[in-house]
Amino acid sequence: MSNNASAPRKILVTSALPYANGSIHLGHLLEYIQTDIWVRFQKSRGHECHYVCADDAHGTAIMLRAEQEGISSEALIERVSREHQADFATFGVAFDNYHSTHSEENRHFSELIYTRLRDRGHIATRDIEQMYDPVKGLFLADRFIKGTCPKCRTADQYGDNCEACGATYTPAELIDPVSAISGATPEVRSSTHYFFKLPDFADFLKRWTRGGHVQTQIGNKLQEWFESGLNEWDISRDAPYFGFEIPDAPGKYFYVWLDAPIGYLASFKNLCDKTGIDFDSYWKKDSEAEVYHFIGKDIVYFHALFWPAMLHGAEFRTPTAVNCHGFVTVNGAKMSKSRGTFIKAATYAEHLNPEYLRYYFAAKLTSRVDDLDLNLEDFAARVNADLVGKVVNIASRCAGFVKKLGDGRLSSHCAEPELVARFIAAGDGIAEDFETREFGRAVRKIMELADEANTYIADKEPWVLAKQEGREQEVLEICSAGINLFRQLMVYLAPVVPAMAEQAREFLKLDTLDWASRHEVLLGHEVAKFKPLMTRVEREKIDAMMAASKEDLVEEQKLKESAKGPLADAPIGGEIAFDDFAKVDLRIARIAKAEYVEGADKLLQLTLDLGGETRNVFAGIRSAYAPEALEGRLTVMVANLAPRKMRFGVSEGMVLAAGDDDGIYLLSPDSGAEPGQRVR
Ligand code: MSP
Ligand code: ZN
Repeated sequence: MSNNASAPRKILVTSALPYANGSIHLGHLLEYIQTDIWVRFQKSRGHECHYVCADDAHGTAIMLRAEQEGISSEALIERVSREHQADFATFGVAFDNYHSTHSEENRHFSELIYTRLRDRGHIATRDIEQMYDPVKGLFLADRFIKGTCPKCRTADQYGDNCEACGATYTPAELIDPVSAISGATPEVRSSTHYFFKLPDFADFLKRWTRGGHVQTQIGNKLQEWFESGLNEWDISRDAPYFGFEIPDAPGKYFYVWLDAPIGYLASFKNLCDKTGIDFDSYWKKDSEAEVYHFIGKDIVYFHALFWPAMLHGAEFRTPTAVNCHGFVTVNGAKMSKSRGTFIKAATYAEHLNPEYLRYYFAAKLTSRVDDLDLNLEDFAARVNADLVGKVVNIASRCAGFVKKLGDGRLSSHCAEPELVARFIAAGDGIAEDFETREFGRAVRKIMELADEANTYIADKEPWVLAKQEGREQEVLEICSAGINLFRQLMVYLAPVVPAMAEQAREFLKLDTLDWASRHEVLLGHEVAKFKPLMTRVEREKIDAMMAASKEDLVEEQKLKESAKGPLADAPIGGEIAFDDFAKVDLRIARIAKAEYVEGADKLLQLTLDLGGETRNVFAGIRSAYAPEALEGRLTVMVANLAPRKMRFGVSEGMVLAAGDDDGIYLLSPDSGAEPGQRVR
């Protein structure tokens, strides 16, 4: 890979394909904005770069959702695709093509890849037993089965793990299982499934993983997976299923995750057919083009194991890199519908400028897989201080004098050639940061330059000089230098805030703000009348956005109510004797430490202080709390629960929380309670 701007690279970039059964929210947007910034940067550098995406349209969830709405799956995915594309456009995410996995191109490539894998012996079949809903007439994925946890006996748990105690099990072990779709008692049935023999590719994948195609953090994760052994992957589902039928297997469909990544090929093929790009030059085995997939950390297994193995086994090239990002939290916790922090893209855009969010995400993004917190206080402060206070300020302080003293024309002599040259030279380092996805570092450098530009203008005080006779030329030259510095900054910021950059380009009367254009200093150049490029973030707008997000929740709840099955809250349970209750030793505990548990997406590991004694407890509350938000907090725990060995260690008790499908709420005592105190 070369960063040499003079040798154009051929680059294909994708973001993960969003599911066609839900709206785009701020979590998704981190990924699409990250990818879009990188793509815009590559285009600014003059490379041939194509950015494709699609809706991920197949699967049971979409089929059931359509049924619930009383429309066909096709009509549903059509409507959602339009919504998704409108949201992306609003946020300046500029795909070169947006397609669907429910497309002829995708059927073609899915069949091609499958038959190549089959003919090379990488597909196996065997009968498996699975829960079957006799009322709906379909096999049930684990998440469509609910029942009582076999370990801790909490009611209403999903088919594969318990949110209360963190236990994992098979749906067959659940006590009193019910189908979450119809409420019927599922029965066990056998059917033939098709498997992709991933272990055939173990050596290839180990080599691939070490070849610089994934980030270090991901490489370590993959190493763990290799050590625990790769399993064959079940790629078929029985009818009824919304997807593609497997060519040689009537009634069997490709599992949605089989044809989803193939959707990258399909969308690109669709673009090639429209524009004449040579598909094979990107995807043939020895292609010199670069292919990058941007994804979130929850879908690494699919992109760093299944996908390269499938491509390799079917004689296609494998990705240059899989670029993985972390998850968005809002105000330190997982996005929560009831707190108003589960914010849809459309709801955000009704209240706030999308470019604020692009800037904030850029300012906090690194090349690593860490989660990113959208702290709404910090968001407002940062956008106001940086974009409005620093960048726009430079142009607004200088533009008036250029209009008045130069009749809208910059001076033909550069007063500060060294300063301007330094701003131009800084572009190389900033480019390196964009290239390596260190956007936060790039933004810091750009803001340091903005500080310098402001200091320059403040020191020169053109507004003071302007009041003195005969110094007009000097004022014009200072302000012209200021406008030149502003131009440099906008070249660097353009991938991040393209709409603002477009307005700046019009003000500067330039054809382009691409990376190379910055080398030419603007002398005797005419600029347009200055219009404010961006206004401040207002706190009331943020509050209104959160209030509206809570209303979105109310709407959704109504939809759910109308289709309510056994997902409803559990009824108040049967009586117990007072003696039974008295056996439970409830205590006030201080959360001394809270940490994520590697490999457990529902659990947090808590160190609880009971006033002298400490306990280690695993709690299924990760979906609602960021660890930092918990440390120092008081809560209530069951202190005499027998220690239980879990996959991740021994849990010595349990914390108390209320909860349902939409949230988990940890109990806290009133102020004054002390760690260790008994709760009665
Ligand atoms: N349909 C699959 C992807 C198939 S790719 C061949 C899927 N869809 S998704 O809609 O659930 O997620 C799309 C992308 O958004 C994923 O990369 C996912 O990691 C990312 N995100 C979803 N929620 C997110 C956050 N809260 N934060 C950051 N990224 C998030 O997975
Ligand atoms: Zn349990």
